[in-house]
Amino acid sequence: MGQIRKDFSSVWIFILAAIGSAAGLGNLWRFPYLAYEHGGAAFFVAYIICLLCIGLPLLILEVGLGKTSKKGAPEALALIGHAKRFKIVGWLAVLVAFGVLTYYIVIASWVLNFAVDSFKMPWQADSESYFFNQFLELSSGIGAFTVPKLTIILGVMVILLLSYISLYKGTSGLAFVAKWITPLPFILLLILLGNSITLSGSLGGLYQLFIPVWSTLLDTKVWFAAATQVIFSISLATGVMFAYGALLNKEVNVSKTCTIVVIGDTLASMICSMIIFSVLGHVAYIDGKDVHEVVSGGIGLAFVVIPHALTLLPVVQEFFSFIFYASVFFLAFTSIVSLFEAILAALMDSKIKLKRATILFIICVLLFICNLLYTMGNGLYLLDIIDHFINGYLMVIVMVAEVIVITWLYDINRLSGELFQGGGSQALHTGFKLLCSYIIPMVLTILFVKQVYTDIATGYGGYAAGYLWGVGVIILIIVAVGSWRLSRKL
Ligand code: PFF
Repeated sequence: MGQIRKDFSSVWIFILAAIGSAAGLGNLWRFPYLAYEHGGAAFFVAYIICLLCIGLPLLILEVGLGKTSKKGAPEALALIGHAKRFKIVGWLAVLVAFGVLTYYIVIASWVLNFAVDSFKMPWQADSESYFFNQFLELSSGIGAFTVPKLTIILGVMVILLLSYISLYKGTSGLAFVAKWITPLPFILLLILLGNSITLSGSLGGLYQLFIPVWSTLLDTKVWFAAATQVIFSISLATGVMFAYGALLNKEVNVSKTCTIVVIGDTLASMICSMIIFSVLGHVAYIDGKDVHEVVSGGIGLAFVVIPHALTLLPVVQEFFSFIFYASVFFLAFTSIVSLFEAILAALMDSKIKLKRATILFIICVLLFICNLLYTMGNGLYLLDIIDHFINGYLMVIVMVAEVIVITWLYDINRLSGELFQGGGSQALHTGFKLLCSYIIPMVLTILFVKQVYTDIATGYGGYAAGYLWGVGVIILIIVAVGSWRLSRKL
């Protein structure tokens, strides 16, 4: 059953593709601000611990199972669990991938618009007012729908078209993107880093980023933020790593390969954080303010503070602006391609008999309809809430379910032997088994319950409880019913 996909021609293509998936908007728009907000260097420590104890083992599991089964997430989990009913966990992951794409493409469209606008820099007078009032035409609240914005829709169409062109052929298109596009943002970001750390005041910004506040490590919120960032950043819980793992050659050593991917992604987060905070230091210096006064969270960082900073550069502002948004666009694009592949792999394994290109076309049309939702004046609010539920809730639920199916139903001794390619000490195997079977599901569940409790008690983002939980419950129901139906039908 299912259609065969060709393997990647070398393990380096896989590594580039996986790093391309992992390094994305999250490294730039989420990681630096999380680090700043949650104790600077102390957050890095929490992040690295979560990466080593949760992220890397889970990545090894997902890639390893993809490689062993040669299937996307639903079929791989059904094979491992020896029962079709476990497909539901795989479909849940695939729906998470679809959910992420519904808003990730829209943010990439904003980036594309900003890249094109770099030559005019229309945000020069007031970057905040430009982004919220002119560019997004933000409405007064989440319930206030407006007409979709044409410029954002055009960006979405360009991205869907580029995704289609990159993906319709299969592995060769993926390999092309991995080889030629993944390295681009790294090169551009290094150029930007070289420029930004030489700006006056940059050290003040870096100091704010790195100065550790160790007491934050006592707060479970910080650990939950680190764990969910790890899951999002290395593209877990979406079926992407199953789909990419399935294109790996049998001889490849999964644990070593995954370690390289994780290092690449962490480097990307570090470079992005250093660029952003040196630039913030510069803005604070020029505007005669404290760094705390110029930092802003989330989207505001990339679309308000950075554009303002770009106008303050001493020379060739347009050039650096273009380089910045072009590199962010490439970062986002390689992640988008990977999310598409997760959905495609699952559908190509299923009972659907359509060709890859046809399936891809249908996904693009469905996504376009969903993307439209966020191109209206209230799109930003909706996007923020949906991202909160997908990243903070659904991905954690998928991860716990996945790890339980894999480690409790499959012979974990055999699996651990396969993943480490017969190598690794006894202690490594025992540690890996203990982590995956007990520690990870337990820790994630405890952190998750605590977070849900906090959300219920204090809300999120200042949204009215009715809207917040209304949207949250709708998403959870769609995803739960959807994955159940898909696992039955396909
Ligand atoms: N890892 C990407 C980022 O940090 O922006 C986002 C992402 C891509 C999440 C692919 C999940 C995924 F499967």
